[in-house]
This record gives sequence, structure tokens and C-alpha cells, in this order.
Amino acid sequence: MEVQTDFLVIGSGIAGLSFALEAAKFGSVAIVTKKEKTEGSTNYAQGGIASVFDPEDSFEEHIKDTLKSGDGLCREETVKMVIRDGPKRIRELMEMGVHFSHQAGPGGRLDLGREGGHSRRRIVHTKDLTGREVEHILLARAEENRNITIYENHMAIDLITRSKMLKQGIITRETEETCWGAYVLDAKENCVVTFAAHVTILATGGAGKVYLYTSNPDIATGDGVAIGYRAGVKVANMEFVQFHPTCLYHPVAKNFLISEAVRGEGGILLNGRGDRFMERYHPSKELATRDVVARSIDMELKKSGDECVYLDISHRPPEFIKDRFPHIYETCLNFGIDITTEPIPVVPAAHYMCGGLLTDLVGRTNLGNLYAIGEVACTGLHGANRLASNSLLEALVFARRAAHSSSKDLEKRKGEPLPGAPRWDSGNATDSEELVVVSHNWDEIRRFMWNYVGIVRTNKRLERARRRAEIIQGEIKEYYWNFTVTRDLLELRNIAQVAELIIECALLRKESRGLHYNLDYPRRDDRYWMRDTVVWL
Ligand code: FAD
Ligand code: SIN
Repeated sequence: MEVQTDFLVIGSGIAGLSFALEAAKFGSVAIVTKKEKTEGSTNYAQGGIASVFDPEDSFEEHIKDTLKSGDGLCREETVKMVIRDGPKRIRELMEMGVHFSHQAGPGGRLDLGREGGHSRRRIVHTKDLTGREVEHILLARAEENRNITIYENHMAIDLITRSKMLKQGIITRETEETCWGAYVLDAKENCVVTFAAHVTILATGGAGKVYLYTSNPDIATGDGVAIGYRAGVKVANMEFVQFHPTCLYHPVAKNFLISEAVRGEGGILLNGRGDRFMERYHPSKELATRDVVARSIDMELKKSGDECVYLDISHRPPEFIKDRFPHIYETCLNFGIDITTEPIPVVPAAHYMCGGLLTDLVGRTNLGNLYAIGEVACTGLHGANRLASNSLLEALVFARRAAHSSSKDLEKRKGEPLPGAPRWDSGNATDSEELVVVSHNWDEIRRFMWNYVGIVRTNKRLERARRRAEIIQGEIKEYYWNFTVTRDLLELRNIAQVAELIIECALLRKESRGLHYNLDYPRRDDRYWMRDTVVWL
């Protein structure tokens, strides 16, 4: 089966949907999304979107905070552009129907939250359910747009590139390596569909599931990075994995984040003895940047042997807590924790991938007609450590820029029919009776990544991880080529690829900077390392 479209968007989070809404002004858009359409990190975002709305605030200050958090690796041009475009993009969301919280009273201004690393209150939010509000409104607008079709339970496998088409004698004259769409697994019908497109957008989100403990939803298996890398796209800065300092520690709770906004509203961190330990690590205490807070918690836990630390907001009035953090309050209460009266047990967990597919200022990759936007991309905004709530902002700004840039790519090809793409070659695939091996490999990767490639690294641990990753890669190649593709198997192939990329980048960077902390090179080394780690096939 083949679907033809002007724009193929892979992913239905803030990046994919924002792109689709803008691109639909220029042509037809197909969005493929691997599970239910709302399922992605966007839907779970709590804190909000960082942007300059307070008349006392300035672009310069937001730029300064972002550069400081990025620890010398941000691309200044990107930072300036994203921060200056921010308020316009947020106003557009409001025009589409997104309701952000306002201060009480008639004509109340936007209620701005505070998070770590920000010198001021500048987080636009919908209490602690910002992502859900944004996702639902964007989806509603996309669903009423006649130029947009959404395909749920459709998982992109690999890109269709010029070299694949040349091999099959389908095209002969293009000189540049170009993308022409993707092969997509229709998980309901259990067949592979060819999506042929003039422009393809990877908006597949993050890769938290590469680690045993993560704040991310199940879809976050790094598919876009793996898919892009296999097609020859440059990948950068994968060593900078952001661990969120405060995820709920509870035997039953899975992936539940306790927003940094809780610390922004006065929450303090305590160790098992009840000491407020952050003052020993950094003058900004609980509101230091995330790399610092997560590492400090890690050190406290290693020193004490405890399983978790505690985040305490119970000194604020109960009415305030329930009103400002209704979702966190309710969820914790369901787990037997009343946050208005007792501290919340928390641990750090993998949260955000600062690295990804390398792009320019409009989201273009080095593969012709392929763009990457949102968490899958490495645009230069985050450098070595993302500033809190700068991610939704980045996705909004780049989605629009990519839509306008790629509309020009489409213009160039206008009138040309899409060449029929080669059909998916399933080789000698048969059904596997041993798919339990897939889940064993999944577990093994996530465990060794957590143990050896976590918050604190050493060369020895990284080498150990590399050896294990290589063995698993070998096994996956055997499985992948011998058995019919399934979503689990495809995801395993992707997390193994992403794990390998994180390990490679971590081994290449012989210093400590931002989120990458290696005990064998404990210092930042600006003489050699004020640069991205870039790898490609
Ligand atoms: P996502 O929203 O993750 O969407 C990815 C989409 O791609 C999904 O639809 C998924 O199904 C699809 N997909 C993936 N692989 C495939 C494939 N192979 N084929 C087809 N479809 C595929 N950032 C902030 O700025 N502020 C916050 O307050 C904030 N809070 C957060 C809270 C949590 C719990 C988490 C996990 C993250 C938070 N972040 C926050 C980070 C931010 O939410 C994400 O970086 C951002 O939402 C990413 O958007 P995206 O569109 O790139 O990806
Ligand atoms: C949070 O609410 O703590 C998450 C914010 C972010 O990841 O930017």
C-alpha cells in the first residue's frame, strides 16, 4: 500500500502538530503517530513554557540564563532567535484556544511560574497540566483542518532515501542525497505502508526509555534519532542526557514527575535525616540548574545509601498547593502521600535528550528535504544542559520556521509527480517464536545505561556499557533480519542504536561539562571542548 502526500510528519506532539498546522497552508499533510495521537511527552509536560512576558523581564536576561545553563555549548544565534520569537508563538497558541493561567482579578496578567536556572518568573503555564492543554488544543485544530490526515498506530521504520531509489532504478537525476518519505508499520493491520512525500519531518520526541528510570512515556524510544542516523543524518551531543531531579519514588508509580515549579514555589529538598542539603552544593540551592541539583541528589544518595530524598512544600498553605498543583496533589494523594502535610519521596530520572539530529536555524538536516524538530533535534538551543521549560518553546519556534522553509522545498518540486517509492523488502521474514528475547534485551540495555551511563560516569563504566551494547546490536541484527517486524522489535533496534550513540559521544568528550560528568575528567576544558560532538554513519 502507498500513501502520497506533500508533507509527511512523523509524530503528533507539540512539534509535529505545530508544524502540520502551518504547513497545511501550503500543501497536504499526513501525520503518522505510533500509538494514540495524544501519547507523547507533550501531553505530560507540567511546568510550562519559558518566555518573556513580564515587563520587568527582558530577552537579554532569558538569553543569559539559557547560555549559562548550556555551560558554554549553546549556539548563540539559535538562543537569540528562539527567545525573541517566543512571545509571538505563545500568543498564537492563545489565539488557537490554549488557556494559560492568569493572575486573579479582572484583566489579570499571565501568571508566571519560576523554575531552576531562571533569574525571574517567566514560565507561562496551565497550572501543572500545561502539556495536556497544549496537546489537546493543537490536536483539535489539526483534526478540523481538511489538509491534515492523522494516522494513529502507524510507526515509522526507516526513511526512503535517494540511494534506496537509485538502487531500484526509480530515479536517476537528483545529485544530492534526498529523503522521499518513510516506511511505516501499520500496527493494527500488521503491514508496512510506504508513505511517499516531498518533505519529511521527524518530530518523534525523546529517548528517556533508553534508561531504566525515566519521566518519559513509553513512546520515547529515540526512534527519530535512530532512523535519521541510519539514513546518514548527523547526530550531535548525545552525551547530554538530562536527568530531572524530582520524580516520585514509589513502588507502584511509574514515571510520575514532580514539577520543578514545586521548587519554584518554595519546595525544599531534604535528605533522609531531614537536612536541607542543597545549600551545601550551590548558592542557588533548590533553584540551581538541573544538572547541579540532580548530581547533588545523586551524591547525597550515594553518601547515605538511602533510596530517595524528599521534596517538601508542606510549609505553603494547603489551598495554594491544591490550586497551583492540582494534578500533582491528586496523583500523590492516590499513592497515599498528602503533599500539603508531608514531604514527597523523590529520585532523579532520565528526562530529556539535549542532543539529537543536527539542524540549522530552520530545522533542516544534512539529508535533503528532511527536517527534524522538537526534542529529536539538536538545534544549539540547549548546549550541555537545557534550561527548564525551554523545550516546548523550542518546538513551537522551530516548527513554524521549518514549515516556511520546507514550503519552499515543496515549491521547487511542484508539478513533479512523486516517483513511486520502492516497496518495503521484508527479506526472509518469518514469525519469531522467541520474542521474549526482545524483552530481555530491552531490560538489559535500560539497566546498563542506568548503571554505567547515568548521572556520574567513568571511562571504565562507559567501556563496559559499550561492550554490552555491541553484543546486543549483533543479536538485534540477527533478529531484525530473520523475523517479521513488530513495534517491540523496532523499538528495541532504536533504543540499542541510541544507547550506542550516547555511549560513543560520552567516550569522545574528555571533560566534564553540563550534564556530562566523568570522574576521570572532572573539569571543564574550554581549550578543546567548546564544540559539539558530532557523529554520523
Ligand atoms: P513528543 O511530544 O514526545 O511527541 C513525539 C511524537 O512522536 C509522539 O506522537 C510519538 O508517538 C511519535 N513517535 C515517536 N516515534 C515514532 C515513530 N517511530 N513513528 C511514528 N510516530 C512516532 N518541557 C518544557 O518545556 N516544559 C515542561 O513543563 C516540560 N515538562 C515535562 C514533563 C514531562 C513528564 C516530560 C516527559 C517532559 C517534559 N518537558 C517539558 C519536555 C517536553 O515535554 C518535551 O521535550 C516535548 O514535549 C517534546 O515534544 P515533541 O513534539 O518533540 O515530542
Ligand atoms: C517540570 O515541570 O519540572 C518540567 C519542566 C521541563 O522539563 O522543562
